[in-house]
Amino acid sequence: DTSTTPASTDIALRTPPYPKLLRKLHEVRRLLPTARFTLAEKILYSHLESPEEAFSSVSKDGSGIRGALSLKLKPDRVAMQDASAQMALLQFMSCGLPSTAVPASIHCDHMIVGERGADVDLPESISGNKEVFDFLESAANKYGIEFWPPGAGIIHQTVLENYAAPGLMMLGTDSHTPNAGGLGSIAIGVGGADAVDALVDAPWELKAPKILGVRLEGRLSGWASPKDIILHLAGLLTVRGGTGKIIEYHGPGISSLSATGMATICNMGAEVGATTSLFPFTPGSHTPYLRATHRGSIAEQAEAISSSPGPHNLLRADAECEYDEMITIDLGKLEPHINGPFTPDLSTPLSQFSEVAKANKWPETFGAGLIGSCTNSSYQDMTRASHLVQQASAAGLKPKADFFVTPGSEQIRATLDSDGVVSTFEQAGGVVLANACGPCIGQWKRTDGVQKGTENAIFTSYNRNFRSRNDGNAKTMNFLASPELVTAMTYSGSTSFNPMTDSIPLPSGEPFRFEPPSGQDLPRSGFAVGNAAFLPTPGVPDPNVQVVIDPSSTRLAVLDPFEPFPASELGDLKVLVKVKGQCTTDTISAAGPWLKYKGHLPNISENTLIGAINAETGETNTVYDLSAAAADANAEGMGIPELAKKWKAQGQEWIVVAEHNYGEGSAREHAALQPRYLGARIILAKSFARIHETNLKKQGVVPLTFADEADYDRIGACDEVSTIGLLDTLQNGGKGEVGLRVRRRSGEEFTIKTKHTLSPDQCGFILAGSALNLLARKGRS
Ligand code: F3S
Repeated sequence: DTSTTPASTDIALRTPPYPKLLRKLHEVRRLLPTARFTLAEKILYSHLESPEEAFSSVSKDGSGIRGALSLKLKPDRVAMQDASAQMALLQFMSCGLPSTAVPASIHCDHMIVGERGADVDLPESISGNKEVFDFLESAANKYGIEFWPPGAGIIHQTVLENYAAPGLMMLGTDSHTPNAGGLGSIAIGVGGADAVDALVDAPWELKAPKILGVRLEGRLSGWASPKDIILHLAGLLTVRGGTGKIIEYHGPGISSLSATGMATICNMGAEVGATTSLFPFTPGSHTPYLRATHRGSIAEQAEAISSSPGPHNLLRADAECEYDEMITIDLGKLEPHINGPFTPDLSTPLSQFSEVAKANKWPETFGAGLIGSCTNSSYQDMTRASHLVQQASAAGLKPKADFFVTPGSEQIRATLDSDGVVSTFEQAGGVVLANACGPCIGQWKRTDGVQKGTENAIFTSYNRNFRSRNDGNAKTMNFLASPELVTAMTYSGSTSFNPMTDSIPLPSGEPFRFEPPSGQDLPRSGFAVGNAAFLPTPGVPDPNVQVVIDPSSTRLAVLDPFEPFPASELGDLKVLVKVKGQCTTDTISAAGPWLKYKGHLPNISENTLIGAINAETGETNTVYDLSAAAADANAEGMGIPELAKKWKAQGQEWIVVAEHNYGEGSAREHAALQPRYLGARIILAKSFARIHETNLKKQGVVPLTFADEADYDRIGACDEVSTIGLLDTLQNGGKGEVGLRVRRRSGEEFTIKTKHTLSPDQCGFILAGSALNLLARKGRS
């Protein structure tokens, strides 16, 4: 099933628009002649919709941009995975455009189970998710999006092999999208509504990130691998250390890294909360990788650009650029690390792990070693792991723990197959799973008898290790390490085994000790294409295609546009619930079993605010319809979504009252879409998480904060609220004050002051009913 024919590619569509980007960079230089830019800034600012407008009030040396300015950007490309693509496409469809404005791709990877191996798991997963895959494929064919079917590979590996390129800017609807930074792209993970901005050619807004410089010195050798760089860095930075920042790698140590190794490092930048991570164009590794993946012409253009003189060189940082923070890592001194359990920033050097494990009473043995995934399934990773397997097999050893391998793409799997690596793993007892996320996203059906609730350990070369992430068991401790280390440790099955210093007894009584792993960055005879059924559709729009959504589906539903804002103030809204304490996006739209309804807004809305605590009763997900004074005494408690649905049916719109940092946690757009669908007009809080506040405005919900926080105590459930000055404020592009007239159930009436952060664009969204309505209107005109 292999051949050396390149995948069907239109190389022009996969090449960043270099002439346009260079023109923009010239414009940026003209406006800010004395500024010295990092590489990330050069690429980012070359994607501004209008540098002139963005920098109109910035001083000539560019100070005051980072961490302050809101950038309106025009990304070159969008990639979507199957779970998040559903809502992104449903929203895109409601804009009524015939095709996407920028090239885009869909990757079916998240909904595929890992259990008994690709041959069995893949067909079962396809039949279990058929309606979703049919919808995605038909929408892709209609709107000209490349569709990578189930089994083709994991989004980030496929993007690296086909779309990532130096200087590209892309958005991806998955948090590990920054993987593409390994090939010099600015690649940012976003929600579906943000992806739709790019798909319809509307500017996408981002607060200019700060730049964290990481200087790499020395060379990796022996057991140390690129994964260890990011495992070590995660320990230094913690899970929040990269928030609002781009991590830019530089320094002489880069030359010892492969392109895929750089991708691994960028992939896990998500674990420290970074906006994205970036390596500079590195001809020594990037050119061979681009050539091996049939993109030699991109490498030639990148080489020409990166050898042009300083200030106008799009692919290199300015010599005197400054970073907001700097960290230096000496690769020559770096030892392998193991991170976990339960958080990716709990980082322990291998030499100390045995001691730390004993002190913490972590299990002495572990049941499974899992390598591969989007993070670590490169040719280099797999050949280094197979070198260890070969050594152990030659000594007559078999793995003590279960051993699973997840190839990141069909290209990688087929190449490993033709080069004998797959059979090396399989002969040792390893199970090669489908080219998909599988165990990395909880789609792992364990067959080793470990029951839910039983404490146990596993080792993986994945990127995340939150509780329940892999097998749904909150007591499974997932330790993250390089694929080499996971492979070697699987032969011992002991958490205290250090393959650099310890040996394993052979049946003969002789000790067996691993030699350090070695492998190749790239296959000597090129990548194989593999099964042609896994190649993408061509990505050419066809207006005759009917998008397949079964009207009786429980998983997919066409989105109806929200009504525009009325030509009046909002009157007689009712308080649905006054929430006490933390209210995250998970509180507002829970994940877990609800994820299968991501494409069905009415069904997923059944989980709206089910994690919220009622401030007046202390109960979770319990509210009372106190509409009629007479009903007070006997009103029965009901779920929050239940009351919201009842009011929606009655045409009664509502507001939520909440405390600080409402909507913290993630960019989950459903947390804004669902309340809007059920009739929310205003969220009144002490403060908001920034991304969620923006998401609310995009869906047409008005976020207001208390001018005086003490007013939180004066409002309660089922009080009636009317706005004062909101319509004027919206019509004046956000200029104006908004008050609320409150009529309590007791009959008491008073007015409170509020604050807002409405920009002119956001006022437009709310007046239109949602950002999508506005985009659709523009698209039609
Ligand atoms: Fe996410 Fe799939 Fe990677 S779940 S972390 S994209 S393997």
